[in-house]
Amino acid sequence: MTTLLIATRNAHKVGEIQTILGAGFHCLTLDGFPDAPTVLEDADTFAGNATKKAVELARWLSGSPEFKAQNAKPDYVLADDSGLEVDVLGGAPGVHSARFAALDKSENSRDADNNSKLLRLLQEVPAGRRTARFRCVLALVSCADGASARLFDGACEGRIQSGASGRGGFGYDPLFVPAGHEQSFAELGESVKNRLSHRARALEKLKDYFSKLAS
Ligand code: IMP
Repeated sequence: MTTLLIATRNAHKVGEIQTILGAGFHCLTLDGFPDAPTVLEDADTFAGNATKKAVELARWLSGSPEFKAQNAKPDYVLADDSGLEVDVLGGAPGVHSARFAALDKSENSRDADNNSKLLRLLQEVPAGRRTARFRCVLALVSCADGASARLFDGACEGRIQSGASGRGGFGYDPLFVPAGHEQSFAELGESVKNRLSHRARALEKLKDYFSKLAS
């Protein structure tokens, strides 16, 4: 069994990661580490931010009394940095996806505000030019040596529909229709999203990495 500390406070992301990784992995959340630092996501790529989160947390963890007190000690820190790229907006919101509605502020915006801003910007854009993709980069750092991060990426192509629909998922899910489907991620539900998504594709690569390590 491999124990991972998932370096995010986004409960939806942790839930998806746990479900997709399945029984061979034990995922710890930052809830068990209340003093963990909040890492400033100021890199200009998903890979840069994911690496920064994983490396800084692994470094903090190695000196933390909370780490020594844990029953199940993490073997690795796993960080996810992800977001939405809209072609007609030149790839925005991209690394700024979480704080799109208030780019001048360092804190994240509410999903509803991000979604309203995106719909407003795309108001005049016809259906055929609303192509977009979700991207995810996972950074894995071993707690044993805290050395360099190993990266795994995934993307999911689709389009932005003209209004929100569905109640599942999080973030831009009510607006994003994956290629080959007519409903948003929020309508398609968890089991479909967890087969198709950017995060699922990156996690498949991570699982392959661990199965090769074990063989
Ligand atoms: P991060 O936590 O800095 O990686 O920010 C990710 C942001 O990208 C989230 O707050 C969402 O706005 C968006 N995002 C990432 N993955 C997804 C997804 O699976 N569905 C919907 N929105 C997502």
